[in-house]
Amino acid sequence: MKTIYGVLGYPIKHSLSPAMHNAVFKYLSLDCSYYAFEVNKDNLKEAIYGAKALKFGGLNLTIPLKEKALEIVSADPLSKKIGSINTIDFKDGIKGYTTDGIGAKLALEPYINIKGKNLLLLGAGGAARAIAFQFKKEGADIVIANRTKERAIKLAKEVGVRGYGLDNLKNLVENADIIINSTSVGMYPNTNHTLIPSDWINPDHVVFDIVYNPIETKLLEDAKKAGAKTLNGVMMLVYQGAESFKIWTGIEPPIDIMKKAVLKGLRSI
Ligand code: ATR
Repeated sequence: MKTIYGVLGYPIKHSLSPAMHNAVFKYLSLDCSYYAFEVNKDNLKEAIYGAKALKFGGLNLTIPLKEKALEIVSADPLSKKIGSINTIDFKDGIKGYTTDGIGAKLALEPYINIKGKNLLLLGAGGAARAIAFQFKKEGADIVIANRTKERAIKLAKEVGVRGYGLDNLKNLVENADIIINSTSVGMYPNTNHTLIPSDWINPDHVVFDIVYNPIETKLLEDAKKAGAKTLNGVMMLVYQGAESFKIWTGIEPPIDIMKKAVLKGLRSI
């Protein structure tokens, strides 16, 4: 019997997860299918319990359900600290995990040794929380800068690092080895927005934008022109998906197949 997987969220129409996971199921000849389901916070509990009852293989969660889902499942300690989950596994009860942080780590690792590096993290939302806790664990020296300063300070305190508003950003950029944008600034349709003027970036910077639509944001375009190493959000998306896949199946999925499916999907949205 076919095993069903799915991603829950709202809006969900443009999710790239079905294409990414179905490509792997096909490549590995597994009798599984992955679908996107439009679910809101009010019917999230029913949806999760329904999927369990229907013997789904697993679920992903996306905006706006990642925090709410944490209250419904039995979550691992890291997800509890971060405050969100993006993966549910049904093998033994209803277990929740987050793979966003590990996705970011695996994406960045080939570019720079993270340990001991000065990392400027822009943003203090859900994605920033996952990245902050993960990269602290990897030994980065982190500063967090966010439009709403109080939010940066709150997250920084939880992680055990420093938090700022955007007023001192030039200094923070100057002192950074790695810059990660985890805000939605630059994301479609506001593609000409960036938080960092181009002339602040230098060739020694590694600039990672977790946004993947567009693939090259204004920040990355500027960073490239300045001679910096750049990384877009595609591989973070792929690796977080690969980690979910491993949790569900125990199988190491083919990363290149997933990447190809994501890039093809991005061209069609
Ligand atoms: P996610 O879960 O995807 O991280 P989020 O929790 O809504 O989403 O967080 C979005 C992040 O982008 C926040 O850090 C937000 O800053 P605030 O905390 O001040 O809201 C940041 N952000 C969004 N639009 C922004 C803008 N125009 N300028 C600066 N930061 C922005």
